Amino acid sequence: MADTLSIVDNRTGKKYELPIHDGTVRAMDLRQIKTGPEDFGLMTYDPAFMNTASCRSAITYIDGDKGILLYRGYPIEQLAEHSDYLETAYLLLFGELPTTVQLQAWTREISLHTMVHENIKKLMEGFQYDAHPMGIFLSTVGALSTFYPDARQVHDRAARMHQTVRLIAKVPTIAAYAYRHSIGRPYVYPDNELSFAGNFLNMLFKMTELKYQSNPVLTRALDVLFILHADHEQNCSTSAMRNIGSSHVDPYSALAGAAAALYGPLHGGANEAVLRMLNEIGSVSKVPEFIKRVKSGDGSRLMGFGHRVYKSYDPRAKVIKRTADLVFSITGKNPLLDIALELERIALEDEYFVSRKLYPNVDFYSGLIYQAMGFPVEMFPVLFAIPRTVGWIAQWEEMLLDSEQKIARPRQIYVGPQPRDYVPAEKRS
Ligand code: ACO
Repeated sequence: MADTLSIVDNRTGKKYELPIHDGTVRAMDLRQIKTGPEDFGLMTYDPAFMNTASCRSAITYIDGDKGILLYRGYPIEQLAEHSDYLETAYLLLFGELPTTVQLQAWTREISLHTMVHENIKKLMEGFQYDAHPMGIFLSTVGALSTFYPDARQVHDRAARMHQTVRLIAKVPTIAAYAYRHSIGRPYVYPDNELSFAGNFLNMLFKMTELKYQSNPVLTRALDVLFILHADHEQNCSTSAMRNIGSSHVDPYSALAGAAAALYGPLHGGANEAVLRMLNEIGSVSKVPEFIKRVKSGDGSRLMGFGHRVYKSYDPRAKVIKRTADLVFSITGKNPLLDIALELERIALEDEYFVSRKLYPNVDFYSGLIYQAMGFPVEMFPVLFAIPRTVGWIAQWEEMLLDSEQKIARPRQIYVGPQPRDYVPAEKRS
């Protein structure tokens, strides 16, 4: 059997043979299908990119039906068990797990770039006392581009690597400053002797003690959450990163745009929305009533459920559920957990959710963990943006090195008025 697709255009009776590679046909191959010389050629129409591959990528693989997630071929469950965030970041960026020497050098390199310019602090002080930390975060990341003009050299490998290290190292510092700003506490400088997650907790929660020591179980839990959130192929924010980056703007500006995409309640804002939903439900006894409302079609959604790609249990949600038990053994159980468990129990048996293949996603339980660890809900999308930074950069780098990529520029189907003459104001009805 030939790896081709035969198409008969019934408007003209002409037959076309299109090659199939990797289970796809090239949309540009359709352009030759025309009704006449004036015809632009056939296009595809795919709102929200439901069935369109926009790139070839070797970074992350998802099988949504089987609930499989691999970073560079390694199952997420194994990385969550054995790796740490910086090692996983190395893997995502460079394609292979580092040797011991490489990991030591990489960890040291990151720790040497954790500080931000003092003017960044001043910039952040300008935000309102009650500014949402994610708004502060994405604005400040964008502002970094003004501090590093060399970031514009996006075709220079060394310059790209420099910004990569800076971004991975500085996002926890910016995130922590955004948090401290929102609660009116002085900023805590990074402590480079601590681990990536340990230093982040230090910058968030250090008070008057000389040396901050985070709880090892909580530090590890945060690191696992960072691993789980590090990349997820062509999701909304990553596509934003690639799209913005395709104009060859500097990575700080592109990453600010990606973070903005992550801010939305249908994406990185979902765990914040889960907690609001659980609070709104209030008690286990009110769960059936809430499920009824979701099914009534009044627009309410069971937040933390459903996924564009996963049509089975999100593998990250499984790891998170185990991590939650460890965290609650230290912090005490989050009182909202019982409501969440009851929601999950009912939804997994209910025909509405079963028939639509709606399962808990990564955000269903992550908010409960973050809340138990003392984070306010406004910090949740920021906690997502820190580890996703490496995914965004790895995908940006891959996009820049892909000779097939150009500036992203979708087509449209124009449905507006046909040409018409300008009407002077006095003649308009
Ligand atoms: N609660 C109730 N019904 C839902 C939900 C949900 N959480 N998610 C989807 N549905 C229903 C839709 O109403 C639709 O039903 P219909 O066929 O009767 O119209 C059907 O399931 C398909 O839903 P779509 O919106 O077409 O699915 P899509 O792939 O576009 O949406 C999304 C995916 C945005 C994640 C959606 O499931 C959702 O809104 N979930 C809640 C928000 C959330 O948890 N987001 C986090 C995603 S993970 C992440 O970004 C890290």
